Amino acid sequence: MYRIAVLVSGSGSNLQALIDATRDGRLHARVELVLSDRPGVFALERARRAGITTAVVPRGRYRGRALSDRILEVLCATAGGVDLIVLAGFLSILEGPVLEEYAGRILNIHPGPLPAFGGRGMYGIHVHRAVLEAGARESACTVHVVDEGTDTGPVLLERRVPVEPDDTPERLSEKVRAVEHPTLVDGVRLLATRLGLSEEAPA
Ligand code: GRF
Repeated sequence: MYRIAVLVSGSGSNLQALIDATRDGRLHARVELVLSDRPGVFALERARRAGITTAVVPRGRYRGRALSDRILEVLCATAGGVDLIVLAGFLSILEGPVLEEYAGRILNIHPGPLPAFGGRGMYGIHVHRAVLEAGARESACTVHVVDEGTDTGPVLLERRVPVEPDDTPERLSEKVRAVEHPTLVDGVRLLATRLGLSEEAPA
């Protein structure tokens, strides 16, 4: 069994998808740690309900590089270590040594096509608005490996979603969210298999 740390900032529906997949055998993994950059988010409650260790590194107290460095300390202090890090709705940008320490082992889920609709400021509803404003006929959710850029790392999986003429940003957001959960689970399995952490066949 490989060990996952999930970094969150919000409701944690993607975290829940990962917890469920580890429980029902779709992932041969354990969520070892859930770390949030904001206190009081529902993702932390989901983790507690599942009996998973939680940590908060508040972005009000740690900024920029200091936030990333503190996260690295928490990861290093996790008993037994962590094999993969999943950014599941994590709104801070990782930088510095944490990226070197876990190079090729950090995944992010992005609610839009990359590289076209990524980068700083492209998160949540902003992505869906930009897709509609561009007149794109398809959107997507994208699972990619994290590098030192913002949403620039190699894409592992993309699941496309058609854009309908009457879609609003909110409606598009719901449609993309519906495909995110299975895509994230498949992305984790794919990377774990590539890294030799698991012998599961990629879905
Ligand atoms: C998702 O849409 C994800 O793609 C984005 O942030 C959202 C997080 O949702 N990066 P949740 O907290 O997993 O419910």
